[in-house]
Amino acid sequence: MRIDIITVLPEMLEGFINQSILLRAQKKGLVEIHIHNLRDYTHNKHRKVDDYPFGGFAGMVMQCQPIDECISALKAERHYDEIIFTTPDGEQFNQPMANQLSMAENLIILCGHYKGVDYRIREYLITKEISIGDYVLTGGELAAAAITDAVVRVIPGVIGDEQSALSDSFQDNLLAAPIYSRPADYKGWKVPEILLSGNEAKIKEWELNQAYERTRRLRPDLLNKKGE
Ligand code: ADE
Repeated sequence: MRIDIITVLPEMLEGFINQSILLRAQKKGLVEIHIHNLRDYTHNKHRKVDDYPFGGFAGMVMQCQPIDECISALKAERHYDEIIFTTPDGEQFNQPMANQLSMAENLIILCGHYKGVDYRIREYLITKEISIGDYVLTGGELAAAAITDAVVRVIPGVIGDEQSALSDSFQDNLLAAPIYSRPADYKGWKVPEILLSGNEAKIKEWELNQAYERTRRLRPDLLNKKGE
């Protein structure tokens, strides 16, 4: 899989994608992540990517030309399954969307600036608009990072133990059960007895009960999604 991210703040994303699991996934050849500085596609001396809006509105607008030329250059090289724009008025990002995007061959993510992108880009070039939540960030870079992270980690082979991605919170609309490691007793803080019993069937039953109990208490809306 290949992900191309278009941004005016490449430094913000470069550190992020070259760490930990995302770095390992790239080294293993499971994903290629390329960051493109939108300013490299300008034709003016100051590498300006924005201008005043028509209609006398406040703020600045990212212009069509550099975005169009960057996306066209990428599309000339390969087919893209989706051209994503990060924006608070997009479709709400969630685990099923991450799973589905992880099956794509090639993705472009354009880091948006709310109100700040010429709307024709959204009308003519973008195929999917994604929000990571009902709040407004200063730019779409953090959203692009969140989407990239969630998509890459469900690509088979990215996390050592594939089972662990599948048993995540939200994969089946259930929150994960609590998890513990050694020592079994730390300062009197005890691990649930059942986990030390070695009885696999009982442990599985406990895990499922815990998942339901935590979901009912913390995210009852998820149980409604399961139709329960
Ligand atoms: N850009 C600014 N806020 C955002 C959000 N909540 N989701 C996606 N992109 C954004």
